[in-house]
Amino acid sequence: MKILFKNKRILTKITFIKNNYSTAPKSLATLRIGEKDYRTDDYTNITPKILSYLNHNLHLKNDNPLSLVRRRIVNYFYSSFTHRGNPTFSVYDNMSPIVSTKQNFDDLLIPDDHPSRAKSDCYYINSTTLLRAHMTAHQSELLRAGLDNFLMIGDVYRRDEIDSTHFPVFHQIDAVRTQRKEQLFEQHPDLHIFEKNFEPTNPHTFKNSIADPTKQSCHTLEATKLMEVQLKNHLIGMVRHLFGEDIKYRWVEAYFPFTHPSWELEIFYENNWMEILGCGIVRNEILANAGPNNSIAYAFGLGLERLAMALYKIPDIRLMWSKDSGFLTQFQNKNVNANIVYKPVSIYPQCTNDLSFWLPSNSSIDTFTSNDFYDLVRDIGGDIIEQVKLKDKFIHPKTKKHSLCYSIVYRHLERTLTQAEVNKIHKEIEEAATKTFNVVIR
Ligand code: PHE
Repeated sequence: MKILFKNKRILTKITFIKNNYSTAPKSLATLRIGEKDYRTDDYTNITPKILSYLNHNLHLKNDNPLSLVRRRIVNYFYSSFTHRGNPTFSVYDNMSPIVSTKQNFDDLLIPDDHPSRAKSDCYYINSTTLLRAHMTAHQSELLRAGLDNFLMIGDVYRRDEIDSTHFPVFHQIDAVRTQRKEQLFEQHPDLHIFEKNFEPTNPHTFKNSIADPTKQSCHTLEATKLMEVQLKNHLIGMVRHLFGEDIKYRWVEAYFPFTHPSWELEIFYENNWMEILGCGIVRNEILANAGPNNSIAYAFGLGLERLAMALYKIPDIRLMWSKDSGFLTQFQNKNVNANIVYKPVSIYPQCTNDLSFWLPSNSSIDTFTSNDFYDLVRDIGGDIIEQVKLKDKFIHPKTKKHSLCYSIVYRHLERTLTQAEVNKIHKEIEEAATKTFNVVIR
């Protein structure tokens, strides 16, 4: 579907998705995203639907599985790498997904004719601005800012097929870990990061080559191998931290324009090898252009959706965007390391009714046992009760009477409930509560 922006139409916020812009004539115009106007051109292919996915920050929402996986991975990196009690990795999880083609491609040595730049693969705002297609887009700017160990976490956008494992928006954690000679070869001061004929202070006099599959020509084999071992150990440690010691995995040789050598890690999941991350030794040109010219770095990028789907057995990637409390409560207030197995939520709609009552004078909001109430609700409502939550506690300032309010979520697994039949059951629950707990319905 082609969506074109109407001439000079000022688009406020991104809530215009209900309008049908697909019939608008194509012409040069500006596109407003948030507070900013962007000129559009013949590269513009971003759609209102895609814009509507911006700013959701699912990876930071406490009841989203992506956030649980993010926290587990961040915890792993925090606890595995500390210096004098402080984590050595800094985390950037709130950077705007709107980036330049320089950030997304040029800074990472991605050639002009590389297929990943194609309009058919990315969401362009215009020919020089796009929604980041990977978190690696921020690597150079953070290196330039002087950082050496960091994680970049956020939403990335790619045009792709539509099925249960693909969605135009997904989330990645990208990382860089740099080391200077004194750190990498602490035990072996006689070893070096760079080959003798390479002058790190002037990398431009040396043409760094990646013709040798084992290493970049500027690096020594010892430095490359030691980095490779560390990189692989750290990532396997992470995968074991997530999936347990017995997880089956394998390394596959790979190619990325910004790392050399490069690998992909696959894990064995549901009888298939599943690729979960790409990684490698950062091309020295990138480091040298961005600042640190006396270090070697590894980098990796992994997709959070795949890990969350595998960890929690979530069958469809669209569920990550679910606002349904039947889905979200399965991940709410959970210990990050909890072993959660997703239970399918009915496709039929929920119906939520509140129930408030005054407690008898011999009972208080602190002694009333909610679980008793839950059992009563379940006894009467049966399987159509999806959730019961304590919503509010209240003490009347004058009468000092205590009151509780519960939300009951009704949902049938095989059909849509009518409000009338829900009201009938709700009424029965009220009557039973009145009898059993001696309460007065408000
Ligand atoms: N950016 C790569 C991707 O999205 C992953 C990657 C990151 C690979 C860093 C190597 C190093 O596929």
